Amino acid sequence: STPTTRAVINVDLGGPVINRHLYGHFAEHLGRCIYGGFWVGEDSELPNVGGIRTDVVEALRALNIPNLRWPGGCFADEYHWQDGIGPRQDRPIMVNTHWGNVEENNHFGTHEFMALCELLGADPYVNGNVGSGTVREMSEWVEYLTRDGDSPMVRQRKANGREKAWRVPFWGIGNEAWGCGGNMRPEAYADEARRFATFLRDHGDNKLYRIAAGANDDNLAWTEALMKAVSCLGCGNKPRGFFQGISFHYYTHDGDGIHRSHATDFDDTQYYRTMIKAADIDRVIKAHRAVMDSYDPAGVVGLVCDEWGTWWQVDEGTNPGFLQQQNTLRDALVAGLHFDIFHSHAERLIMANIAQTVNVLQSMILTDDQGGLVLTPTYHVFEMNKGHQDAASLAVHQPGGPATIDVDGTALAQVTASASRKGDTVLISAGNLSLDSGTMIDFDLRGGSVSAARGRILTADRPQAHNTVAEPTAVAPVELEVRVTDGHLIADLPPHSFATIEVDLA
Ligand code: AHR
Repeated sequence: STPTTRAVINVDLGGPVINRHLYGHFAEHLGRCIYGGFWVGEDSELPNVGGIRTDVVEALRALNIPNLRWPGGCFADEYHWQDGIGPRQDRPIMVNTHWGNVEENNHFGTHEFMALCELLGADPYVNGNVGSGTVREMSEWVEYLTRDGDSPMVRQRKANGREKAWRVPFWGIGNEAWGCGGNMRPEAYADEARRFATFLRDHGDNKLYRIAAGANDDNLAWTEALMKAVSCLGCGNKPRGFFQGISFHYYTHDGDGIHRSHATDFDDTQYYRTMIKAADIDRVIKAHRAVMDSYDPAGVVGLVCDEWGTWWQVDEGTNPGFLQQQNTLRDALVAGLHFDIFHSHAERLIMANIAQTVNVLQSMILTDDQGGLVLTPTYHVFEMNKGHQDAASLAVHQPGGPATIDVDGTALAQVTASASRKGDTVLISAGNLSLDSGTMIDFDLRGGSVSAARGRILTADRPQAHNTVAEPTAVAPVELEVRVTDGHLIADLPPHSFATIEVDLA
């Protein structure tokens, strides 16, 4: 008989709110993310709004994308924003030395990015250039974007066709300053971040949430240096307001270093090692939180995971610098697992950005130049989970602990789950990570009565399953039968599956 997984959820004990910005995105000038992904140009035969591909926007609107980070990544630290404004034919060409060594014609610049955010309904998260830029350049970019009234930058913006100031809530102070952003040492970057932040002004009503470029994985010394740079233990523990958030980056692979394993051709060992690496982000977040707690016990400074996702070998025949990879059910399960963990850290973790939205790394969408568009399995997890945005988190207890799978001596929880409540609706997400064991999941809801429940499931006959233009729905959500009895929700979770259950409370 199928083993049962029991889980208890107290629907009347809401925890910290899951910030909608945990469902944020990242679009870099890298490979075919901007050019050939979002941007096709106004002269394209493909339907577009001012050069931005219409079907891409329509598909992404269904995800309720809360924010979009741009223009990089590593590209941000060699990007000079003044090159990307004014008439397109006059914009200078540069070389994108990080990504493919290709020419960048700057046709997608500040105005195009802000138009994209407006089309998506997403808040802009602009990442400034610390590595090869100046304080003046970054300060003037903020002025150009957000100042009203009259000033040199405002006059330039108006001359380029935009009267009103834009709202820009999030600002990144460089990227990966320990590496492609300038190979700095932690204390040196911490001082740079303070210096740049000083000149990132709040113009009018626009209040910037400044995010310092943080650690890779569990480089806690980096986080500590940044916390020291803002902490003020002598003044009631209230951090100084140079920057409001600190980022970190976390990529998932199968334990053997990035770009080693194939995106679709992997074995069971590589699958499980991937899940172990994905699950380990929980330890990494806890470690960053502990450092932050010691300098900022009130939790004022936010933790931001502004790059996460899987990183595999590139698709055969593509430019290795374009980081284009297929996306399977394995990637979807990584996304579901990350969200369960993100939800459990909702108190300190205020934003996360998947790398990247279109055609790069763990994308939502794959496009081709003939008008083909594929929604990846990862897209479906974002769509199925969108009800968690801004909902109160609910703890999910598996009595006695979850059943585990031994992976090279490390225990992987077979079933991971998270839940949230918004008004009288509860949303539960659950993943079964086992490759061969199904389970009957029994959610015991306490503290409220269930009037209806609707389930959806994302799975396939094998974890390597993926979508293509020829077969776009090989991995797509279908209805999941949920039996409701005495406040219990019972459903079958087959191997390698992800499910959501939406519950109406009476
Ligand atoms: O997302 C791809 C790259 O990964 C980003 O440009 C960089 O920040 C990271 O190393």
